[in-house]
Amino acid sequence: MSSARMFFRPERHHAGRHSRLASHGTGDMTAAPYLITPESEALAAAALSIALIGPNHERRSEAALALRNFAAGGIRQFSAYSEAEEDLARKLDEEFDAVLVDLDSEPEAALQLVERICGFGKSTVMVYSGHTDPQALMRCMRAGAREFLTVPFDERLVIEALSRAAARRPAAAAKANRAGKMLVFLGAKGGVGVTSVACNFAVALAQNPGQRTLLIDLDLPLGDAALNLGIVSEFSTVNALEAADRLDGSFLTSLLAKHSSGVWVLSAPGRFPYFEPEPEAIEKLISVARLEFDNVVVDLGSRANPAGSVLFQDATAIYLVTQAGIPELRNSNRLISQVFIEESTRLEIVLNRFDSKLLGVSEEQITKALTRPAQWKIPSDHALLRKMQINAEPLALGDSAVAKTIRKMAEAVHGEQADKTPEKKKGFSLFG
Ligand SMILES: Nc1ncnc2c1ncn2[C@@H]1O[C@H](COP(=O)(O)OP(=O)(O)OP(=O)(O)O)[C@@H](O)[C@H]1O
Ligand SMILES: [Mg+2]
Repeated sequence: MSSARMFFRPERHHAGRHSRLASHGTGDMTAAPYLITPESEALAAAALSIALIGPNHERRSEAALALRNFAAGGIRQFSAYSEAEEDLARKLDEEFDAVLVDLDSEPEAALQLVERICGFGKSTVMVYSGHTDPQALMRCMRAGAREFLTVPFDERLVIEALSRAAARRPAAAAKANRAGKMLVFLGAKGGVGVTSVACNFAVALAQNPGQRTLLIDLDLPLGDAALNLGIVSEFSTVNALEAADRLDGSFLTSLLAKHSSGVWVLSAPGRFPYFEPEPEAIEKLISVARLEFDNVVVDLGSRANPAGSVLFQDATAIYLVTQAGIPELRNSNRLISQVFIEESTRLEIVLNRFDSKLLGVSEEQITKALTRPAQWKIPSDHALLRKMQINAEPLALGDSAVAKTIRKMAEAVHGEQADKTPEKKKGFSLFG
């Protein structure tokens, strides 16, 4: 693997963005050329102070060289992990915006130090290493490190990592008081099409320029959103929930995979974990996700369990996906009339695999069971859905009736939230 940061905001590679090589204007002819980009200029203005810790002098010097153009607040070097223990860990946290720890010299001591500094929580702790072992990555992440840089340093990645450190400073964090939309998909019964609809809905939302969309697979433990999109991810929702107490935007981003459509995905785990999430952990995950993303789409599967119910209170919209079968309608009726009473105005019913010709129940009966007309009716298209599964390619951008309906659903989110009624009617009239 090339020199690369292993986690944290891989989306922020701005290929093609204006950049040029220059020497830093200090008069020092030995200064390494560096990239002038909007980020590097912002970093200079941010005046970050940085601590470098590690016994390996050569490695420290290399790091200092890579950082020096972006640390207007100064770089201080510590030659031993022990120098930085106990009270000094607190001081490091208080005095430096970023603390870089060399992992390779003494990994155990380094990780202990990372954990200790992270316990104070203000500074951004980064680890640098000559290796990219996934186990080591995971241990660093668990210890609380927010960035992992590989040596030799890639200047662009260093700039990105430091930019995030600058953004994390309390003054910058205070500005981040916006919250994205939370769009929760729940099935009235297993197999009704929650994942198919949620994935394509997220893909449709992600086409909106300037909007960042995240799909979270909370159908634990066996959710298959990633499978539907053809994504293989190293990390999962379980990693996020297990570390909820220290989860923040950078950490969350490090766990995501990006789909070619632009959707970010937090997958369900590849292996079967015995893990029951706490409602508080789900709440934390969602609140961090909403700070980072404009749209947070959640595949909750068909389990309206207590842990998941924390999602309903704050959801922008809850999409109850159902079908026109007797068990699905019966479950829907229970959910609508007994569970989602307070959420009624935010509840949107999605009647999937709808085929008026093949109905055993009339539309009137369906409406009666649902207590109101379904806002959205997605036609049945077995061949199309099967193709999507086989090719692991979303269908949301195509010409099919299924795609058109799902795009309408996404458009309704971007439309006037305060005035949803016309959008709902529009969706319904497609089949009405
Ligand atoms: N509109 C549709 N037309 C035809 N087939 C569909 C449609 N929607 C979903 N399917 C098919 O139904 C099956 C179940 O879909 P999906 O996995 O999306 O459901 P789910 O509710 O997420 O299931 P689970 O409870 O296992 O999570 C899949 O084979 C899918 O291709
Ligand atoms: Mg599913």
